Amino acid sequence: MSAQLLDGKAISSQIRAEIAEEAAALTAQTGVTATLAAILVGDDPASQIYVRNKQRDCERSNMKSVLHRLPADTPEAALLELIARLNGDPTIHGILVQLPLPQGISEERILDSVSPEKDVDCFHPTNVGLLSQGRPRFLPCTPHGVLQILHRCGIETAGKHAVVVGRSEIVGKPMTQLLVQRSSPLGPGMANATVTCCHSRTPDLAAITRQADVLIVAIGKADFITGDMVKPGAAVIDVGMNRVDGRLTGDVDFASVVEVAGHLTPVPGGVGPLTIAMLLRNTLAAAQQQTPCSKPA
Ligand code: GUN
Repeated sequence: MSAQLLDGKAISSQIRAEIAEEAAALTAQTGVTATLAAILVGDDPASQIYVRNKQRDCERSNMKSVLHRLPADTPEAALLELIARLNGDPTIHGILVQLPLPQGISEERILDSVSPEKDVDCFHPTNVGLLSQGRPRFLPCTPHGVLQILHRCGIETAGKHAVVVGRSEIVGKPMTQLLVQRSSPLGPGMANATVTCCHSRTPDLAAITRQADVLIVAIGKADFITGDMVKPGAAVIDVGMNRVDGRLTGDVDFASVVEVAGHLTPVPGGVGPLTIAMLLRNTLAAAQQQTPCSKPA
């Protein structure tokens, strides 16, 4: 058997076209252009590329982006001051602080200082709490991207055993939260899973991954999940982005898993393109929420 590949690039283009249309409608109705402020501290090469792509896609989707580039030795107080200014600026709807931050700056203090109304990454404790209570203000970008891929490919999670491998704050934990809810903004079929979250301390991980109808892997280890760890016919979503000898590769060993899975996302071209699309979705939702007389998201 050879798995059907799920084309994240095509799904992302489709979603970005939908967002571009809605963003243009917001501007036509209210004169407001949804605007993202991106903050990049230091010169990490991967972060520079991510931020550039986020800005490019914003502008292609009828939104604006404003980049604040700060040197690596920026004091934490100066970064807090910039965020306070952006929090109070009515022309800025979303704020994104690109991670990782340089050593010496507390990620926790910085992310906590972003206004929850402008927290388009969904990292603020208030937004994480709302998500966990099943009344999200924003959906976390990468987990939302995973749900969009599944949904738009006709793969429901309701009643299924979903196994999430990884417990990061950005992917594993919020993914687990989304899947276990009673309802989803994407419809009841995209929640109501029985969810197991595995991690680096899980004994006999393969015994659990083999039970997964939907297997979502975000553990940050290249080619970690092999074909013998996958239930035949399962939908396997690879969130990994590892650089091996300069090549981008996922957490799933593509060659062996493609022979066992029913559906599989490639790397690159799977989940990656959806993360930015979902950031745009949240930026537009933030602008709609902050603009009186606009249609709510
Ligand atoms: N660094 C890696 N992934 C992300 C992300 O989703 N958001 C931000 N702000 N930084 C990141």
